Amino acid sequence: MSIDDLLSLDPGVRSDFLATWLGYTEAKGDPHLRAAISALYESITPDEVLVHSGAEEAIHNFMQVFLEPGDHVIYLAPAYQSLYDVAVSLDCEVSPWRLEQGENGWFLDMDLLPDLIRPSTRLIVINTPHNPTGYSLSAAQLAQVASIADENGIFVFCDQVYKGLEWSDGPHRWFCDICDNSLSLGVMSKSYGLPGLRIGWIATRDQVLYKKLLNYKCYTTICNSAPSEFLATIALRHHGAILDRNIALIQENIDFAAEFFDRHQELFVNNEPQAGPIAFHKYLGKDSVEDFCASLLESQGVLLLPGSVYGVDGYVRMGYGRADFQDCLIRLDRFLS
Ligand SMILES: Cc1ncc(COP(=O)(O)O)c(C=O)c1O
Repeated sequence: MSIDDLLSLDPGVRSDFLATWLGYTEAKGDPHLRAAISALYESITPDEVLVHSGAEEAIHNFMQVFLEPGDHVIYLAPAYQSLYDVAVSLDCEVSPWRLEQGENGWFLDMDLLPDLIRPSTRLIVINTPHNPTGYSLSAAQLAQVASIADENGIFVFCDQVYKGLEWSDGPHRWFCDICDNSLSLGVMSKSYGLPGLRIGWIATRDQVLYKKLLNYKCYTTICNSAPSEFLATIALRHHGAILDRNIALIQENIDFAAEFFDRHQELFVNNEPQAGPIAFHKYLGKDSVEDFCASLLESQGVLLLPGSVYGVDGYVRMGYGRADFQDCLIRLDRFLS
């Protein structure tokens, strides 16, 4: 969306946007924005929301203030790199809790989690809806993670940047609404499709952690961009309309791709996403997946992300949230034939 598109959702606010004051903003995040964010939760108040520059700043800062060398971290794998690599850079030990390829897409073995826990385990990092598999933990699985973490005194960092893009079993709850000893990560970049705003946030009931994060932010960005905070507040006031539009686009693209995957069963396992805009399709070709992606890019200008980026060979990541998805899939089809 452009700024113009966004302001069209609420025509009365154009002059307010132009009058936005360009001084420093509040380090915690603009109070109107924090109110709009906290309204997304069942139990989180604006003072339990800390706004950051995108989700990435929040991941980095959280790991810096929370982890000590030697701590053990369990993370849902494969993963967005910084969800485990920042911990590695701090001399922590990390153990992947791996999603697995089943006959009908990805699945998660909940029984593996307790076995990964060690006396030094301080943190479990999960991400749902999941990048890159499109897997979505069910309400029962989230409750199980919360109870295993509680029993063992382990903190949970739940990356929910794709939350709101769930269609089959309704929107899931924010993890910090079901577990005290946790933090939920949200952002405007993914479900809302507004990464240029660079507005993300954490929500947590842990006030000690909150204060440490607030202090640490004074060494990274101090405060957020005032125009971005204003625009994010407008987008969140219209969150239903934006999410409905984005879910409709993703579903239309998934339906369009179904016929493609039916015709190319010798080359791909579909692994349709359960939620969110991305899927991790198994590639059955004889060549390396990097070579396949490189030739496709060169010949058609279409990028499929090779799974090796996530340390998983033999997979390609496809994005279903783009308006030009169908055109790109037609070009992939042309390349194959
Ligand atoms: C799972 C996950 N978490 C966090 C981020 C970082 O988001 P942002 O670009 O808003 O900082 C990404 C971006 O791709 C992501 O996929």
